[in-house]
Amino acid sequence: NSNRPSTAIAHIYRGTFVHATEQTALQILEDALLGVDTEGKIAFIGKGEELDKLSQTFGFSLSEVTQLAQHEFFMPGMVDTHIHAPQYSYAGTALDMPLLQWLNTYTFPVESRFKDLKFAQEVYTQVVRRTLRNGTTTACYFATIHTDASLLLGQITNDFGQRALVGKVCMDRNNSVKHYKETIQESQEETCRFIAELLDKKYPLVKPVVTPRFALSCTGALLGQLGAIAKNNNLHIQSHISENMEEVKLVKELFPESESYTDVYHKYNLLTDKTVMAHGCHLSDEELNLFRETGASLSHCPNSNISLCSGLLNVSNVLKHKVKLGLGTDVAGGYSASMLDAVRRTLDTCKFLTIQDPEHHTLPFEEVFRLATLGGSQALSLDNQTGNFEVGKDFDALRVNVAAPGGPIDLIQHEEPKILLEKFLNLGDDRNIMEVYVAGRRVVPFTEQTAE
Ligand code: GUN
Ligand code: FE
Repeated sequence: NSNRPSTAIAHIYRGTFVHATEQTALQILEDALLGVDTEGKIAFIGKGEELDKLSQTFGFSLSEVTQLAQHEFFMPGMVDTHIHAPQYSYAGTALDMPLLQWLNTYTFPVESRFKDLKFAQEVYTQVVRRTLRNGTTTACYFATIHTDASLLLGQITNDFGQRALVGKVCMDRNNSVKHYKETIQESQEETCRFIAELLDKKYPLVKPVVTPRFALSCTGALLGQLGAIAKNNNLHIQSHISENMEEVKLVKELFPESESYTDVYHKYNLLTDKTVMAHGCHLSDEELNLFRETGASLSHCPNSNISLCSGLLNVSNVLKHKVKLGLGTDVAGGYSASMLDAVRRTLDTCKFLTIQDPEHHTLPFEEVFRLATLGGSQALSLDNQTGNFEVGKDFDALRVNVAAPGGPIDLIQHEEPKILLEKFLNLGDDRNIMEVYVAGRRVVPFTEQTAE
């Protein structure tokens, strides 16, 4: 073993791997060998027949190789590019109103309760556990305006080993709930405290994200300050855009000097290549061009768009404009915290558009698989670390057994990997997800520390 590379191999897996690449929406590697080093990075990907050669080069013994079963495969962990952690507390309810009424009636009263750290701890633990075991290895979270509870969310994602962007929400106007609002000064100071304290913890997989709730909740002055904070510290930014027609109309009234909703954020330096904006159902082609030019991305949240009757995002048109795109659950506007649901609702949305206009091009499931994995990592500018199986990236992966006993899928015979993936995406659930890995570490099933 004298020519062993500098990093030691910790795990070797053999079997079918499916993932998306820049070139192909679905690449299938049958009887592949993948090695993960002690830092959780993918050290090599080879073919089964190269086993002897690889074991010599990388210095592992054949007994260390984990062999997948017949109906199993590894796929990259899924990336939820937009989820509200506090709203998990009422997920699956309260879907009977359009967006702005829904926010005032349900959302703000519930979010105001997260001043209570005990309540926050309970809900945030539940949402991180639920998303992880449904295969979300990376999540981009909105918390609430409360700095300490937002820091707690960062701690919980770190404890469970989920990769996360966490945002303390900023809002200084238009709110139905008296105490659920900040002054501009509080919002600015608390954002800085949140960022400094989160970075100070040095959690390896958790990053802060500057989070103006949306243009209707923030004065221009606050948007400008948040744009400056993000720029000076080279931080991620997240918000909402063009979700519902009434919202778009009110933004035009509140910001008459701006040419469009997109232009409002652009003016305040909030559209960067580290920005992700949720929804974008009603953006014009010019606005999509501005997204492409600035490198900002969109998060498609189809369950929420349907549940709140907000609109139908034309994904083909977004991709035609070469705007980076990921998928989001948008809990609790979206009632499901599972990215498998986001995949299905994305396909449904395409089909609704095709029903309305037979010329509309429906996406193949492979393309939606790409959006849920590599697309999401690109939308969050994390694609140098995660999103697919490339040497040097972190091993963020799901071990899927399509024929898991007691699971939702019946298989009569062995089927080809592409069919197994399609069945899992359409019919599968957490019973099919045998193991979840983030940065090489197995985080599901939960360990003693993370079990209830
Ligand atoms: N726009 C502003 N806040 C929210 C929110 O919490 N959920 C959704 N879906 N849209 C928003
Ligand atoms: Fe949202």
